[in-house]
Amino acid sequence: MMRHAFGRPWSSCSACKAANHVHSSPRYRPTIHRWNLDADRQGIQMTGLINSRISNEVLHNHASLNPQMFYGWNINHISRTSAGLKVLGWALPLDGLVDNTFLYCNGVRAEMQFETDTVVEEMFPTWPNAGAASFRASWPQLSGTRAEGLLVFDIRAADGGMLPIKHRMMFDFSDEGLIVVPDADLISHIGATPPQMFIQTGRTLAMQFDAALRAVHGKGFESQTAVLEWGCGPARVLQHIKHLYGDAMSTIAGIDVDSVAIDWCKSRVPGVEFKTCELNPPVDYPDASFDVIYAYSVLTHLRKRDAERWIEEIHRILRPGGHFIFTTLGVSSLPWLHPSGESSIETALRMNGIYDGAKNTDIDSVISDQDYYRNTWVSDRYVQSIWGEGFDIMLSEVCFHHYQDVWVFRKR
Ligand SMILES: C[S@@+](CC[C@H](N)C(=O)[O-])C[C@H]1O[C@@H](n2cnc3c(N)ncnc32)[C@H](O)[C@@H]1O
Repeated sequence: MMRHAFGRPWSSCSACKAANHVHSSPRYRPTIHRWNLDADRQGIQMTGLINSRISNEVLHNHASLNPQMFYGWNINHISRTSAGLKVLGWALPLDGLVDNTFLYCNGVRAEMQFETDTVVEEMFPTWPNAGAASFRASWPQLSGTRAEGLLVFDIRAADGGMLPIKHRMMFDFSDEGLIVVPDADLISHIGATPPQMFIQTGRTLAMQFDAALRAVHGKGFESQTAVLEWGCGPARVLQHIKHLYGDAMSTIAGIDVDSVAIDWCKSRVPGVEFKTCELNPPVDYPDASFDVIYAYSVLTHLRKRDAERWIEEIHRILRPGGHFIFTTLGVSSLPWLHPSGESSIETALRMNGIYDGAKNTDIDSVISDQDYYRNTWVSDRYVQSIWGEGFDIMLSEVCFHHYQDVWVFRKR
């Protein structure tokens, strides 16, 4: 249980302290985007703009009333053989009923076996029958070439009942051979991703970021000249950005504080400019260097003051009109990560707009300041009014990838 004193109440823009400063609210355009993952091989496309964004708070309350909205499941391993497609994973029993959950692949229902899973039970102690969440799913009919290419997974109730908000995962095996995968030790620096998922989640994220950019800009990564991944780690996403969209880019760059990951990238990933950066800015790039800077799960690990300094730096190296795409942990992640009701984080978010009190040890072996790396949550209001200074906020979407929200900012 984490208990912390949160110091000062959440303050507004620091410039407001100066006399006569008129605080300009960021222009927040309220939209929620829905993913259309029924895609053909074009990949993920965004469709169906809805005009009023459901606030995280509303969603959260709704989740308490209707936990199916935050139905948890995950795929841990996929194997494709001549005997068919097999998947290992876990899925919280829909409505708590052990025979109610079915995994589909490309619309075909799996043969499923459920097993005891104490890890999931510990993660979701209040969920009925969470201990029966582990599954083995197989599709003997999806063998050989039929199981290659795009696999779209979704979970449905036996009665075809209501689908949860995060109900689909997408994998594409067509370029697996092009991607280099680090050893388990280096993978552990970015969290516990099994090697196969390193490729598949990397590709999914690259396509999701492209879809988000396309949604606000009309054009995706392929029409950008200079692109930077901030916090690229061992290039899980950046390798796909290069292969899928990089042909016409003049600069594809990745920076990270993890020199071990950057050295590995330099020796294994050609055609990308990698640099180790310090824990705090500045970075070695001139003003207005990049058209797009993106970051998956970096601001989810920084303390308040470090995050704010980095966002100023990103603003500096982005060209006017350029886009900053990043993910956060917001209120909508809390039922997933703290299903038993960890309310101190929510209190902190209400008071301060940010909670940065939880230590994360994943990169302790490669950084000098052992206090630096955190697990950090933010409120929408904080992101909009503090991080949004100097940007137009073009898009935000809850539970974009797993339980992380996505934001697209455009530099004014
Ligand atoms: C959760 S990992 C995500 C890595 C990568 N974005 C991905 O999705 O595979 C977070 C990454 O941010 C890096 N990082 C943390 N603080 C950073 C900072 N201030 N500047 C650049 N990278 C940072 C970490 O070293 C780590 O590689």
